Order: sequence, then C-alpha cells, then structure tokens
Amino acid sequence: MASSLSLVHIFTILVTIIMSRFAQFDARTSLNVLTFGAKPNGVVDSTKAFSDAWDSACRVEDSAMIYVPKGRYLIGRELRFEGESCKSREITLRIDGTLIGPQDYRLLGKEQNWFSFVGVHNVTVLGGSFDAKGSTLWSCKANGQNCPEGATTLRFMDSYNVKIIGVLSLNSQLFHIAINRCNNVKIEDIRIIAPDDSPNTDGIHIQKSTDIEVRNASIKTGDDCISIGPGTKNLMVDGITCGPGHGISIGSLAKDLEEEGVVNVTVKKAVFVRTDNGLRIKSWPRHSKGFVERVRFLGALMVNVSYPILIDQNYCPGDSYCPTEESGIKINDVIYSGIMGTSATKVAIKMDCSERFPCTQIRMQAINLTYRGGAATTSCINASGKQLGLVIPNGCL
Ligand SMILES: *[C@@H]1O[C@H](CO)[C@@H](O)[C@H](O)[C@H]1NC(C)=O
Ligand SMILES: *[C@@H]1O[C@H](CO)[C@@H](O)[C@H](O)[C@H]1NC(C)=O
Ligand SMILES: *[C@@H]1O[C@H](CO)[C@@H](O)[C@H](O)[C@H]1NC(C)=O
Ligand SMILES: *[C@@H]1O[C@H](CO)[C@@H](O)[C@H](O)[C@H]1NC(C)=O
Ligand SMILES: *[C@@H]1O[C@H](CO)[C@@H](O)[C@H](O)[C@H]1NC(C)=O
Ligand SMILES: *[C@@H]1O[C@H](CO)[C@@H](O)[C@H](O)[C@H]1NC(C)=O
Repeated sequence: MASSLSLVHIFTILVTIIMSRFAQFDARTSLNVLTFGAKPNGVVDSTKAFSDAWDSACRVEDSAMIYVPKGRYLIGRELRFEGESCKSREITLRIDGTLIGPQDYRLLGKEQNWFSFVGVHNVTVLGGSFDAKGSTLWSCKANGQNCPEGATTLRFMDSYNVKIIGVLSLNSQLFHIAINRCNNVKIEDIRIIAPDDSPNTDGIHIQKSTDIEVRNASIKTGDDCISIGPGTKNLMVDGITCGPGHGISIGSLAKDLEEEGVVNVTVKKAVFVRTDNGLRIKSWPRHSKGFVERVRFLGALMVNVSYPILIDQNYCPGDSYCPTEESGIKINDVIYSGIMGTSATKVAIKMDCSERFPCTQIRMQAINLTYRGGAATTSCINASGKQLGLVIPNGCL
C-alpha cells in the first residue's frame, strides 16, 4: 500500500514536470508563413500572407515566432508591421528563406520602405536574405530619367528592444537598413552587399535613436557603410568591415537648421578596404544648431582609403545649391586611437572645421598612416586638441 502510494506520488510529479515543459513550449507560439498562403516559388506575391502572419502573432499574448522556411518569396510591395495593437510580449521573425523584390522597380520605388516596423517592441529579425533587386532603379537614376527615389529595405521606426541578427541585405534600392527614433537596438552578424556605384545605398543609417549596438557586420555598398544622423546617442559600432563604400560617417549634419546633437559614439575595430573615406564627420555649411560630442574611434585598419581621417564641415556633394555659411555644428571631444594603414591620397588626415565653432578637444594617439610607401600629410583648419605618442603624419593639431 505504502509503495503504491509513492508510485502515484512519483507519477503525479512526473506529469507535473511534463505539463510545465509543455506550458513553456506553448508559450512560444510558432506560425509558419506557408499556412497563411505564402508561396516559396518566387513568383506568387506573398505580401498578404506575411502581413496576416504578423497580425496573428500580434494576437498571441506571450511569445510568438513567425517562421519563414527555405525558398524564395516575392514581396511585391511595402510590408508594414505595426506594433500599436500587438498584445505579444515578443515576436521573432525567423527567416531561412530569401525575400525578393518585384522586377518592376516602380512598384517599390514609390514606397519609402520595403519592410517597415512601426511602433514595435521586443522584436527580433533572425536570419534571411533580403534581395530588393535595386539595379534597375539605379540604371534609371544613372540615365537621369524621371525615377522614383526608391525604398529602404528594412526600416524600424518608433520601436524599442529590437534585434536584427544574421541578416543579409542585397542590392537595396536606397538604404539597406534604417533605424529612426528607436531605443535599445542590436544589429549583429549581418552582411550587406551592393556595388560601389549604386547611389544612396547606405548600409546602416541611424538617427534620433538611443542605445544602439552594431557588431560584426560586413558591408560592401555604394554609399556610407554606416551613417550616423542627428539625435544619435550611445552608439557602439564594433567589428565592421567596410568597402567598397564611403566609410563610417557621422552626418551629414546641418541639413536642417534645428537638429539634435550626436552624443557618445564609439567605433571599435573597423577595417576599411579601398573606401572613399574612413572615419568621417561631415556637416553642411549651414548655421544649424546641432553638435557632436564624445566620439571614440578606437582601432582601425585602413587599406588604401582616400581620406582615412576626415572632418568636413563644408560638406556639399556635387558642389551645387550649397549654403555658404560657417557650419553651426560644434564638434568637441573626439579621440582617434590606433589608426593604421595606407591612404590613397597624400592628405591622410584632413580636418576642415567650422570657423565659427572650431573643433575642440581632438585627441590623437597611435596613428600611422602612409601614402604609397612614403609620408602622407595633414590638412587641418580650426581644429585644436592634443597628440600623444606616435602620430604619423604629424602636424594636424
Ligand atoms: C519585453 O521583454 C521584456 C523581457 O522579456 C519584458 O520584461 C517586457 O515586459 C516586454 N515588453 C512588453 C511591452 O511586452
Ligand atoms: C560574424 O557574422 C558572420 C555572418 O555575417 C558569421 O558567419 C560569423 O560567425 C560572425 N563572427 C562572429 C565572431 O560572431
Ligand atoms: C556611452 O555609450 C556606451 C555604449 O556605447 C555606454 O555603455 C555608456 O554608458 C555611455 N556613456 C554615457 C556617459 O552615457
Ligand atoms: C589605391 O587606390 C588608387 C585609386 O584610389 C589606385 O590608383 C591605386 O593603385 C591603389 N593602390 C593600391 C596599392 O592598391
Ligand atoms: C608606420 O607604418 C609603416 C608602413 O606600415 C612602417 O613601415 C613604419 O615602420 C611604421 N612606423 C612606425 C614608427 O611604427
Ligand atoms: C579659423 O581658421 C582661419 C583660417 O586659418 C583663421 O583665420 C581663423 O582665425 C580661425 N578661427 C578661429 C576661431 O580660430
């Protein structure tokens, strides 16, 4: 009798354990886009199926996963994921497949975004290839026809606790990834690919956002690998390979008169291969109210980079319709440390700072940049600060 009671007891415990395991498993509801009618054949438009899967995920109160199996899915227009009425604690979009844009560039070109997430929280995009097929739009632009501006491939707006991990973005029409007005975003292990002559295909653009990390990214594209716009605060960029591309840029700033500042940016362990710039800060020559404060450039390898270190406060691409004021952007407290390699132009360090608000507290240490096996030069205006130890070429500050 005693032994049979204890058997019942053990049985009850086992059932309880198993049930609790199931309860945990149940908490993460998995939704396969195929069951919503997505077609992995690259031909049938799956936009609505993805959108329906998102709506279902939003109704799950706990954690939900939207699963995109291997295959090619045509997403022929903007796919907008809204968080406003989402009940879920978190949503993971796990993608093993490739998402492809429509052949006709005009369909996406008239939208601002291809994939957009608006007002979401606790959302992870995990894996997947995004192929926007931007090349026909770029040729339209190259021929100077009347072309649409183009869509950004993946944009997050007004969102927090976001992760973008293991994603590949190919041939975006405009920017590959953009982060606007977000908090706490992690972008990791990603690859971005577009040709060096593709117009305005910035790799990752960040603005008006706080607590952002970008780690381990390989970026080959036609514009800035990473562009850091007004209102960026607490940004860590660690382990980036850039090239082809226009480098990692803070700016363009002073595009508008009223702008928030850029505060506390660190760029660590970056490699630049044959890029147009390395570490750049750029602002238009306009009396704008923004500023740049506390920037750390720590450890960079330059391989034949046109301007490895550049502050350009007279930025005006194309030199047309430029304002002619002194830049109102005050740049203060910038450290360059451990910057090595080769410059493709004789001027390896260039600082063209605002005459009205000179660059202050610039610090340089452990720098060695050469030009064609020999000495490179510096060209610095209205910049002050100090040098520590080895700084080659010397003479900027
Ligand atoms: C987001 O996730 C965190 C950590 O799991 C959780 O504490 C928080 O409640 C979630 N936020 C919302 C709005 O569900
Ligand atoms: C960096 O990201 C790539 C994918 O882009 C991945 O294969 C690699 O393992 C990552 N490296 C580290 C150190 O995490
Ligand atoms: C600056 O940003 C880093 C993340 O890159 C963060 O850890 C640090 O606390 C920030 N510093 C200040 C003073 O906010
Ligand atoms: C560096 O780049 C320039 C063009 O920007 C090119 O002419 C030169 O051959 C390159 N040098 C090396 C060593 O790759
Ligand atoms: C600077 O770099 C060049 C080329 O890489 C190297 O030959 C030279 O020895 C370095 N100078 C110092 C002082 O380390
Ligand atoms: C800025 O540089 C210009 C040209 O070198 C010089 O005439 C001017 O005095 C400098 N302004 C300040 C505020 O240092």
